[in-house]
Amino acid sequence: MNEITLDIKTAKTTIDRNIYGHFAEHLGRCIYEGVWVGEDSAIPNVRGIRQDVVAALRKIKIPVLRWPGGCFADEYHWKDGVGPKADRPAMVNTHWGGVVENNHFGTHEYMDFCDQLGCEPYICGNVGSGTVQEMSQWVEYLTFDGSSPMANWRRQNGREEPWLIKYFGVGNENWGCGGRMTPEYYSDLYRQYAVYCRNYGANKLYRIACGPRNEDYHWTEVMMAKAGDPRMLNGPYMDGLALHYYTNLERLPDGNRRGSATEFDEAQWIEIVAKGLYMETLVRRHSTLMDKYDPAKKVALIIDEWGTWYAAEPGTHPRFLYQQNTMRDAIVAATSLDIFNKYADRVRMANIAQTINVLQAMILTDKEKMILTPSYHVFEMYAVHQDATLVPVDIQSERYALGNYDVPAISASASVDGNGKLHVTLSNANPNKDIPVNLFIRGMKGGTLSARVLQGDAMNAHNTFAQPNRVEPKPFHGATHNPEGLALVMPRMSVVAVEVG
Ligand code: AHR
Repeated sequence: MNEITLDIKTAKTTIDRNIYGHFAEHLGRCIYEGVWVGEDSAIPNVRGIRQDVVAALRKIKIPVLRWPGGCFADEYHWKDGVGPKADRPAMVNTHWGGVVENNHFGTHEYMDFCDQLGCEPYICGNVGSGTVQEMSQWVEYLTFDGSSPMANWRRQNGREEPWLIKYFGVGNENWGCGGRMTPEYYSDLYRQYAVYCRNYGANKLYRIACGPRNEDYHWTEVMMAKAGDPRMLNGPYMDGLALHYYTNLERLPDGNRRGSATEFDEAQWIEIVAKGLYMETLVRRHSTLMDKYDPAKKVALIIDEWGTWYAAEPGTHPRFLYQQNTMRDAIVAATSLDIFNKYADRVRMANIAQTINVLQAMILTDKEKMILTPSYHVFEMYAVHQDATLVPVDIQSERYALGNYDVPAISASASVDGNGKLHVTLSNANPNKDIPVNLFIRGMKGGTLSARVLQGDAMNAHNTFAQPNRVEPKPFHGATHNPEGLALVMPRMSVVAVEVG
């Protein structure tokens, strides 16, 4: 009943490593404490950036990091975040708790963080409360090699060489916190701002437009018609269109859509799993709409922000969006990454929200302590797909149903890496049942088999500072060769990564 068929010979699309990207905003304890502790901190740091976090993120091969927001991006004025720290003006972070932002983590610190991580920067500029000139000058400051007011200011602030910046976002959620615009209005603004984000010297910007929220297909239609069609003069004006989608619950009896990250029953387990899987509908529909204007798929669909969003942990600031992360989140991470892999011909970047201490985080910190979440472990297990060639999978899965929700229990994706090894990642969303799965593999016989499993001992299994290793990958012995390929028994609520070759 549960069968996955794959043929290595059908592999052709590269899975862009940026599908495994991340997002870090000036929000709660993501940047301050999660990344930036300052040079004088007792927490081991290099130039103010904490080293335990850098080491952990390097391990999952973080490919790209979006910054500085989020809603924060459209009220951020980059000039306040460069130069001597003592002279940097403070501002109020109105979106996220009204706290005072001292601007100690600015452009240079972010670029240093990206260097330490070995990842691509992805900067989101301010359309909502900024100006064309301000955005244009940021690009000049970052990337101009010659003598100019901005490039010389950069030198004065300690950076001689220009940086290479590829990914540049023109605004964030401009339909919402970024200005409450209509797509008709924003698409014109986008075109205007994007013109003045210049390519200097060898630097070539990859311009990313604010895309739709959830199922706002009208937004996609207008953006593609007005700025995304490669047949227009000098078009397309954008390289990527950024979709945002978070999983929420249907309204709870108290009107809230954000239940607890850790205190939930099976009804909320399956609902979040189903809402995670809804990502496929969104990707397919937005992508199909984009095909109408861009059948060659030149413009990428970028899943700029995604992940689970629950009520903040009790006792924490509600606007700091600090939440725990359980096996349920691991399943959502795995199934979402399977979807992005599957649509790799259109999806070329995805950034889970947010890296540290915010929403579906990879890492949680408590002063000098740090723990890794189940979602982190999924990213580590799936890192093998980065830049590998997608092997399409045909999945016949039994259903897992409860109440109003009915989902396939098994999700999977597969790729072949540069050394010819096959990697299959699978998950079983059923929290009650181990499921035998047969893998029919064409184009590859035998080969060394190794596998790991991430499994919870409860739906809400998670790591804490007292018990940091409750959920972590372990060797998996439930997979064996058979004449057709592989047979494995997927443990209930688990994620498995198999390597053959
Ligand atoms: O990730 C938290 C917030 O969610 C971001 O700032 C915003 O873009 C989205 O609404």
